[in-house]
Amino acid sequence: MILVTGATGTTGSIVLRNLAEKGAAARAMARDPGRVPAGFEVVRGDFEDAASLRAAVKGVEAVFLLSSPGGHVATHDLALVDAALGTGVRKIVKVSAIGTGEQGYETTSGWHQPGEEAIRASGLAWTILRPSSFASNALSWAPQIQAGEPLLNHFGTGTNGVVAPRDIAAVAVDALLTDNHDGQVYTLTGPELLSMPEQVAQLAAVIGRPLKVIPGTDDQLRADLLALGADEEFVGFVLKGYEFVRQGGNAVLTGDVERALGRPPGTFKAWAEQNRAAFL
Ligand SMILES: NC(=O)c1ccc[n+]([C@@H]2O[C@H](COP(=O)([O-])OP(=O)(O)OC[C@H]3O[C@@H](n4cnc5c(N)ncnc54)[C@H](OP(=O)(O)O)[C@@H]3O)[C@@H](O)[C@H]2O)c1
Repeated sequence: MILVTGATGTTGSIVLRNLAEKGAAARAMARDPGRVPAGFEVVRGDFEDAASLRAAVKGVEAVFLLSSPGGHVATHDLALVDAALGTGVRKIVKVSAIGTGEQGYETTSGWHQPGEEAIRASGLAWTILRPSSFASNALSWAPQIQAGEPLLNHFGTGTNGVVAPRDIAAVAVDALLTDNHDGQVYTLTGPELLSMPEQVAQLAAVIGRPLKVIPGTDDQLRADLLALGADEEFVGFVLKGYEFVRQGGNAVLTGDVERALGRPPGTFKAWAEQNRAAFL
């Protein structure tokens, strides 16, 4: 039995589906079980509720660990590791982030490093996945695109090795079902470095509509994030991270998807084609 946390989110929902397609026994953990599609075994679980985590790992051999982004990642990861120790769980596959522990990635390292370290020290088998920027982050442009408004570029010409969530999920599933990836740390990127305007140009070609990009300012971004309910600390993290990308800090490509899966990673264009409807 494999426990899938983050099961209602971008990556976890694909992991859950892929495991089911492979005939593996999987249990989705969700704060609101009603949000998990019908047909899956579900357990109510909240990283903030230790008793719920102990119940969620009962009878489980492997855990897909994904905490939602933010300063709480460390406490959420540690709570799950704590609940798993001394049970039948023998493996944890954790979604971390590119550059964890490296200079320039202090914000996301602060989120993910404690969990990575606890997993390594746990005595359990593990695989750490450190994805670059998700292709699905482009979904945040959908409201502007649908409204015919220009898209704000906060990244200048800085590039990312944009990776498709289905590739992250595919590596996770293979790591959950086989021992082939035990003890591996994979930095998962797509096949090409793309700036935000380059991504938008590819998306425009896919949806067959011209899309305009204009430079965004930090002040605008701050105001937008605060309006969405983010706190000052989170806004500070985001601004620092965006500056790092603008300076070219995240212009990193690896061959780790291919190393793990024996096939190249999917392109942003392919992701856009698969998700075209979300922008129309
Ligand atoms: N986006 C990127 O470019 C990027 C790049 C590198 C690394 N990452 C890492 O990837 C992760 C995000 O992945 P994602 O986009 O697939 O996630 P996501 O779509 O944001 O989903 C987050 C999941 O966490 C669940 N969740 C939130 N709070 C919870 C709680 N207290 N207890 C239990 N579950 C809770 C949510 O479920 P409910 O709300 O339904 O309960 C949801 O299923 C983060 O750790 C982030 O640092 C992201």
